[in-house]
Amino acid sequence: MSETLQKLVLDELDANGSIKDTKTLILPGQTHPATSGEDQIIVLGALNSLLSREMITYETHETVTHVLTPEGALILKDGSHEARVWNALPAKGQGEPMTAGALRVVVGDETAKVGQGRAFKNDWIAKEGSGFVKLSSQIDDTTQKALLEISATGSLKASEKDLDDLRKRKLIIQKKGQWFTVKKGSQFSTSTAKPETDLTTEMLTSGSWKTSSYKKYNFEAEGIPTSGGALHPLLKVREEIRNIFLEMGFAEMPTASFIESGFWCFDALFVPQQHPARDLQDTFYISDPKQALLPEKEYYKRVSTVHEHGGFNSIGYRAPWSNEESKKLLLRTHTTASSAQMLYKLAARCRGQDVGDDQKEFAHGTASSSDLSTSKDDGFRPAKLFSIDRVFRNETMDNTHLAEFHQVEGVVADRNLTLADLIGFMRVFFKKMGIEQIRFKPAYNPYTEPSLEIFAFHPMLNRWVEVGNSGMFRPEMLEPMGFPKDVRVHGWGLSLERPTMIRYGINNIRTLVGHKVPISQVENSPAVMF
Ligand code: PHE
Repeated sequence: MSETLQKLVLDELDANGSIKDTKTLILPGQTHPATSGEDQIIVLGALNSLLSREMITYETHETVTHVLTPEGALILKDGSHEARVWNALPAKGQGEPMTAGALRVVVGDETAKVGQGRAFKNDWIAKEGSGFVKLSSQIDDTTQKALLEISATGSLKASEKDLDDLRKRKLIIQKKGQWFTVKKGSQFSTSTAKPETDLTTEMLTSGSWKTSSYKKYNFEAEGIPTSGGALHPLLKVREEIRNIFLEMGFAEMPTASFIESGFWCFDALFVPQQHPARDLQDTFYISDPKQALLPEKEYYKRVSTVHEHGGFNSIGYRAPWSNEESKKLLLRTHTTASSAQMLYKLAARCRGQDVGDDQKEFAHGTASSSDLSTSKDDGFRPAKLFSIDRVFRNETMDNTHLAEFHQVEGVVADRNLTLADLIGFMRVFFKKMGIEQIRFKPAYNPYTEPSLEIFAFHPMLNRWVEVGNSGMFRPEMLEPMGFPKDVRVHGWGLSLERPTMIRYGINNIRTLVGHKVPISQVENSPAVMF
């Protein structure tokens, strides 16, 4: 309907240049002009659609029309009450005058009551004896005539007062309506082809864009509601683990620098300069800039000496030392590179150096009571630190390995810590992650002694899987930093990916990280709570 009506409007404009009154249109499927309010509402729909494409312009005209009430319609059919009363009576001098009672019986109570008065007023009837007779032999039922005109035209030519009168008698009611005059718009054509809303590749290649008509931008449109962002499963698990650390009283270490020097990633941790982990096959090195700055001279000297010649009760590696190796820039292979720098800062006070603001952020800042009672404040303050961030390894990639992953790392520094403290911490930590059954296996790390691998029983796989690595940091690492001899630091590390994959039942890392991750999976993955 709307399509054909639009076409009708356009053809009409094409033929006559304008449409002076849309009430004169004959709508598709109808045989009479569109004079009713309903018809004009249909017309308006078509006009607005054409207007939005600038094919036409139109002007609105308000009208007030009148329609008959049910009572008015009855009068139109049977005549006015007064006419019906007149009709029922005998003419004067012809037969018995009709009594009021008889009249009520013939024309009904209502008509008798209303009609009598009006008929008298019009001098149509007269009283004779105890009844009524016709006075005139002919009457002009103006009420019926007026209603006839109104029903046909919606109005009365004669007088506004008569309309008013009929309205008061509740024979007609007012009805507001509108009609339109229509002119051609700037984009006028007789084709109702839908305007384009998008420029497509097809339109560009076929050249049809040149002749297409385009829908105007609607800057008032509200647009498609945007869906909310979604946290990646890794970030959800990271948040949970972060909360575990925080509730255990750990402070988060800054780990923003993905690029580290060979010194902080390896040397500071007492990883020998000849260690295979430092090979090109395992570590990504940076070619530009070529070199990192070295740390404070004295510290660097202590580190290089303990490697090359020993010290702090260690015989060292007794292998040649290369400054070049320390200065190499690389993508950090573990977050322990960041931990090392934090520990070095934590030891600043022990080295007699001023502690910067950044140390106040994470050091707990209180000397233990035994230190204070012996008035032996060597500057050491205990600390519990953690980090969760990305690390990079030059791995052969497969279903469970990528060249980058996230490490979760916890570090605790205090006096006289033992291996039991480390194991205790890990039991609590993993229990909070929902892993109750854990086992420890002796292992080797260049920077920890003893070292423990952590295994957890996986109920779904029904076997023990490795979940982390840990150990007590070596004196060769801690003492050059300036820590007192009784200070022990232990730490543990695990990947963020493994618990996440277990948590979400994912067995291929590529469906968790990278360009093959289905966005819907990210959006729909539930929050985790350990
Ligand atoms: N850096 C170790 C790793 O990459 C984890 C670890 C952290 C081990 C702290 C001991 C102490 O696996």
